[in-house]
Amino acid sequence: MSKFIIHGQKPIGGEISVGGAKNAALKIIPAAILSEEPTVIHNCPNIEDTKRSLELFEDLGGLIENDNGILKISMPKISKDALESNFANKLRASIMFIAPLLARTGEVMFPHPGGCVIGAGLRPIDLFLDGWSAMGAKVEVKDNFYHIKVKRFQACNYFFTKVSVTGTESMIMAACLAEGTTTLKNCAMEPEIEYLADHLNNCGAKIKGAGTPTIIIEGVEKISGGETTIIPDRIEAGTFAILAAAAKASLTIKKCRPDHLESLLAIFKKMGIDFETGPDWLKIKHVPKNIPAYSVQTHEYPGFPTDLQSPFTVLMTQANGTSLIHETIYDRRLLFTDMLTQMGASITMCDPHRVVIQGPSSLRGRSLTSPDLRAGISMIIAGSIASGKTEIDNIYQIERGYEKIDERLRSIGLDIVRQE
Ligand code: UD1
Repeated sequence: MSKFIIHGQKPIGGEISVGGAKNAALKIIPAAILSEEPTVIHNCPNIEDTKRSLELFEDLGGLIENDNGILKISMPKISKDALESNFANKLRASIMFIAPLLARTGEVMFPHPGGCVIGAGLRPIDLFLDGWSAMGAKVEVKDNFYHIKVKRFQACNYFFTKVSVTGTESMIMAACLAEGTTTLKNCAMEPEIEYLADHLNNCGAKIKGAGTPTIIIEGVEKISGGETTIIPDRIEAGTFAILAAAAKASLTIKKCRPDHLESLLAIFKKMGIDFETGPDWLKIKHVPKNIPAYSVQTHEYPGFPTDLQSPFTVLMTQANGTSLIHETIYDRRLLFTDMLTQMGASITMCDPHRVVIQGPSSLRGRSLTSPDLRAGISMIIAGSIASGKTEIDNIYQIERGYEKIDERLRSIGLDIVRQE
């Protein structure tokens, strides 16, 4: 199994560019199924999760051309009515394929999707099943497979009892080709949702209100092909910014959207971290020697993202004073803090959703395992500020979401190697 080996406390600085957003690409690929015509995708991140998504797309009959990273994908004919377990198990976002497949063929079978092990037990899909049912689908469970049938999705008024990013996106895709006008309320407002809706509108869909809690979708008869450039990954950008803050480095983060990182930047301001932004760059200019502790509570966008909680938790081990990290979205996302404690951090777990950190602590390198994508990248941040050597295994979990991360971090000074 491959590992990352980090020798910590090397000076970090310079410039680093952000890739296309994983959580946008993982919706644009299945959205291409809504049309028989090709979709051309620029800036698609070449990460393990998008590779799995493209493999699944191909397995269902999709055609993929890759011209120097520019993808042209299409599914003129759908060759299967079921998602194979080996694809669904590896990718939670395989759930994004279901609504477009149903819209095209009216029937699909799939096992429970896999992905990060961070929810309570298996990450639930009840909101999806409930949403599709509200649009006229019949759901059965047979031999461990969900079996869904719908002649044509019917418009509905739907209220999300829980705010869900992929749930919102799935209902948008279902409603695009539905009969009638659908109103979705209490929707998630993440920038990736607005981007998906903009792309679909360019392909002939009629979606209004994406990026707000109420989205109205007038069903159309046909979605055409299109061309799109994936928006920058705001979580990757925020992670690099937090790395710079933890390492007290001056770092320019290029090809990003600072306007998608307002919650983090507002906190940086309160902590006295000096930064500057342009339309597509963010520069961390100066990080004071003693940064104050700051408590955060994760929240749906535009609140503090759960996907930045673990890097921020590492940062708080370097801050002066006591901070409370309250993870409101997932049950198991704070379990990785045990590894920070082993590295020398002073962290008390109050309950599965809250930890209290007393900082600052000197971290020492250790052998660690990456439990999930975001905790994994946080182990890299911890290793880069720790004394000595840190070894991280199970790095597939990190490479699911961060492209050539060792190479890119080496270019800003980290002593990190990938050992096969
Ligand atoms: C998306 C992101 C993920 C991010 C998360 C929250 C993608 C591919 N992934 O995940 O990186 O961490 O948003 O910002 O876009 N829930 C249910 N039933 C469901 C679905 C979700 O109870 O059917 C719960 C989840 O367990 C969680 C909460 O709703 O507690 C929010 O999850 P959700 O927004 O759906 O996360 P994802 O869309 O899976």
